[in-house]
Formats: sequence, C-alpha cells, structure tokens
Amino acid sequence: MKALILAGGFGTRLRPLSCTRPKILFPIVNKPLLQWTFERLTKNKIEEAILAVNLQTEVFIKQHRISRCELHIAYSRDPVKKPLGTGGAIKKAEKLLGHDTSFLVLNGDIFADLNYREILKIHEEKNAAATIALHEVSDPSRYGVAELANDNRIKKFIEKPLREEAPSNLINAGVYVLSPEIFKYIPKGRKVSLEREVFPKLTEEKKLYGYVFDGFWMDIGKLEDYLKINKILLGSFANQQKYKIGSKVKIKKPVAFDKGVSIGEKTVIGPYAVLGRNVIVGKNVHIQNSVILPGTTISDFSSANGSVIGENVIIGKGVKIGEGCVLGDHVKVRDNVSLARRVSVCPAKEISESVLTPKSII
Ligand code: GDD
Ligand code: MG
Repeated sequence: MKALILAGGFGTRLRPLSCTRPKILFPIVNKPLLQWTFERLTKNKIEEAILAVNLQTEVFIKQHRISRCELHIAYSRDPVKKPLGTGGAIKKAEKLLGHDTSFLVLNGDIFADLNYREILKIHEEKNAAATIALHEVSDPSRYGVAELANDNRIKKFIEKPLREEAPSNLINAGVYVLSPEIFKYIPKGRKVSLEREVFPKLTEEKKLYGYVFDGFWMDIGKLEDYLKINKILLGSFANQQKYKIGSKVKIKKPVAFDKGVSIGEKTVIGPYAVLGRNVIVGKNVHIQNSVILPGTTISDFSSANGSVIGENVIIGKGVKIGEGCVLGDHVKVRDNVSLARRVSVCPAKEISESVLTPKSII
C-alpha cells in the first residue's frame, strides 16, 4: 500500500515558528514530526510515501535531510502560489498513486498512533470509497465531525461545525484509506476540499465509512497543542534517555536533551523540558515546561516556563520568559527583560524592554 502525506498547508496558527518551518518539520521531543510519520509508516510495512507539498515545503524537507527509514519517497507539488486544497492535492498525485489498489492518506500535521492495517481491513470489508479514522474528543468544533451508523457507515460529515451543531464527538483524525474510485469525485485543476466537498457527497452515496480508534492522537494545529504533545511524549518515554550532564546541574525528569547540549552549574532543568541540539544554557537558569529549539543560548540567571523558544535565539542574563510565550528563530532578548505571558516574537527581532501583557511583536 502507498501512502500520501498531505503537507502543503501553511500552519498560520503556529506563527511565529511556522514563519521559518512547515508544520511537518516541527520537532517533537527533538525529532521532526515527519520523521515520526516515516517511522510509523515503516513499522506498518508501508514501502512508498508520496509527499503532497508546495515548493517551499519541498525545499525545507530536502534541506532537513530526514532519514527516509526504508521508504521510497516521491513528491507531488501544488502549483506555485495556487494551493490545491486537501482534495486537489490527492487528485494531483493520481498518477503516482495509480488505480490498482487502495491507498493511505495522512494529514501531515497530526500524530496518530494507529495500526494502518486495521483501517484497511474495515475499508475492504465495507467495499468503501473512503474510510476515515475517527477519534473521540471533548470539543469537536475545531475538526471534521462524523455521525456513524451501526454498520460503521458515516451518515453525516461536517467540517468544523459550531459546537452545538456537531452531530457527535467523533472527529476526523486525518488518516484515511481511499479507493482509486475517489479520483472520480475530485474535479481536476482547481482547489478542492476533501472534507467540505468530497466527503459530504460520499455520505449521500453511502460510500463513506469510519474506523474508530482510541490510541494516542494529537493535531499540532496550535502552539498549546505543540507544547502538550511534547509533554505527553516526554512523559511516556524520555525517562529512559541517558545523558552526560555536569553533577552540579539539577534535572527534574522527564526531560530530553539532543546532542551537544551544555548546561551550567546550579541550573535546574525540568520537569518537562526539551533541549534541542547544541543548546547552551548558562548558570542558575531554570527551564521547565518548555521546548527549546536547536542552537539557542540561554544566559545565566534566566528562566523559561511554559514557553517555546525557536532556533538560534540568544537570551541575555536575568531574562524571564513566562507562560505561553513563543520566540521565533534568531530572536535576541537583552539582559533583564521579562516577557510575562503570551508574548510572541517574530523571527530575528531584538527585544530590549520588558513586555508584561499578551502581545505579538512583529
Ligand atoms: N498539498 C497540500 N495542498 N496540502 C494541504 C493543502 C493544500 O492546499 N491544504 C492543507 N494541506 C495539508 C496540511 O498541510 C495538513 O497536513 C492537512 O492537509 C490538513 O490541513 P489543515 O489545514 O491542517 O486542516 P485542519 O487541521 O484545519 O483540519 C483537518 O485536520 C483535522 C484533524 O487534525 C481536517 O481534515 C479536519 O477534518 C480534521 O479533523
Ligand atoms: Mg491541521
């Protein structure tokens, strides 16, 4: 079975971090999301992945040198400045996917621990045109929502309904098995939303099915989700990580350090801190509940709590970075500055004064 990974979205809700990297390359516990996806595909014995990208994303992915595991990788590119939407991107990959067998489609920005063979089984049993992996959440309004009949058929599919209008709490997890007949339902050469145009049509024709799974699932659509997924995954496996850190550093597990991390004396790291490759942390620093991307320096007596700090950021001495703050790549923060809460700073900005209320600095 081939897999198509939808990876051409813009991730506007993840700014300022998504100004400089596509969603699929966000590191989750120091490993890009796309790498997690490749590993899961390989584990499920899938041999070929097609990435539905735009030009910018393709360039980023190639620069990142992600290990392909054992996968054969191909690219299917949206036209420049004309995103095709989720349906259009599938249609564009028609030749690469072929008409011989059903294939898997994944939203590239989700983390879903599910067995692809099981969804394929339901798909084949039901002779469906499309089978959607469904996951139960408490607030379905940010997602596509399905109403299931007893035989796994989806009676109704609504994309991002008002909360009171959602027919159930079962949401589209962004993992599908599609039969080649799906191509007939997608008009060529224009933007098409699979969720808004194609799925409702399939429900009318009784060709849309659902596979409910309850494994771990998350979408990294918003920054809070990004911190949360790092936290959950840290909690589940980072305790086994071995690292060499000076004896005068206090580690409160779970934490994760990539290669080349250096930490000064009397610094407290954790709980829930992820430090990327070559991050340099000074003395008497406290980092908790935060993700620090590669190449960043945090100087003495500073702290970060509940924040995400981009790549190659330079943080001076005595700086306080509070809950919900996000610093884009290459930002500089001068000594003794406080960023109290929910301050987001665009890439390469220099901050020399404290900001005590939520604000975007662009
Ligand atoms: N190639 C290409 N071209 N890919 C695209 C395009 C496009 O024009 N638009 C979106 N994508 C990719 C995104 O990169 C993402 O991986 C996936 O398609 C879904 O798009 P999002 O923009 O992230 O949609 P969403 O998060 O609002 O909603 C989708 O995901 C939810 C689950 O996380 C929908 O599929 C919902 O129904 C679903 O519940
Ligand atoms: Mg999304």
